[in-house]
Amino acid sequence: MNKATRKTVIAGNWKMNMTPAETTAFINELAPMVAGKDGCDIVLCVPFVDIANAVEAAKGTNIKIGAENVHFKESGAYTGEISAKMLNACGVEYVVIGHSERRQYFGETDQTVNLRTLAAVNAGLTAIVCVGETLEQRELGYTETLLKYQTKMALTNVKPEQLANIIIAYEPVWAIGTGVTATADQADEGNGFVRAAVEEMFGKAAAEAVTVQYGGSMNAKNAAELLSKVNVDGGLIGGASLKTADFTVIVDAAQ
Ligand code: 13P
Repeated sequence: MNKATRKTVIAGNWKMNMTPAETTAFINELAPMVAGKDGCDIVLCVPFVDIANAVEAAKGTNIKIGAENVHFKESGAYTGEISAKMLNACGVEYVVIGHSERRQYFGETDQTVNLRTLAAVNAGLTAIVCVGETLEQRELGYTETLLKYQTKMALTNVKPEQLANIIIAYEPVWAIGTGVTATADQADEGNGFVRAAVEEMFGKAAAEAVTVQYGGSMNAKNAAELLSKVNVDGGLIGGASLKTADFTVIVDAAQ
C-alpha cells in the first residue's frame, strides 16, 4: 500500500472558536462548496458545545464531525470531562488527542495521550493523535527521536486491527498558529519519522496503510505543495478551517 491507496483526511480543528449558531451557519455554507469532493475525507473537529449543531447541519453531507478532546475513563466522578461513549452517542466520529496546546497548557502527557487514544478507539471513534517537536527540540537535533517516542507512547497497547481507526498528525509546535509553515520537505520528513515509528511497532504493511497528516499553518496557498509529498496524507488545519473559502481550497488540493 502507498500514498495512492491511503486515506487522505482533511480535518479542521476549530480550537476555542465558534458558537453553536455560527457552527450551523458555517456548515450550511461549506456543505455545497465541498459536495461530491470524495478524494478525501472531510472532518470538522469542533468545541463540545457545538457538536449537536454540527452533527445536525452535517447530516446528509460529506462532512464528518469530530471533537477536540476526550477523557480516558468511561464514566464517573470527573467533573467537567466528556467520555468517548458520550461523544459516540452524539454522532461524533473523530477526536483530536494530544494537541500541543493541551500538552503545553493543560498538563497533557504522553501517558494521558495513550489512555485517551485507547479510550477513543475502544469506543469506536477515530483518534487523530498529535505529535510534534518544539523549536528548541528541533535545533538540538531531537526531532526524529522525539517524534518516534511520542508516536510509540501514544500507540502503546493499541491492537493492530485498531490502527485503521488511528490517524497521526505531525504538528511541529513552532509552526502552529505562527504563520511559519514547515517546508514541504520538513513536513514529509517529520511524517516519515512517524511512519517509521509505526513500522517499528506494527510492521511495514501497517506503516504503509496509516494516514499521517501534517498540521501547522497549512493554508489555501501552501496546501497543494504540502499534500503533494509522499508521506503527507492530509492536513489538520487550525486558522484556515475557520473560513469556508480557504478550507475548500485545501479540500480541493487533496482531490
Ligand atoms: P494553524 O493551522 O492555525 O497553525 O493550527 C494548526 C493546528 O494546531 C491544528 O491542530
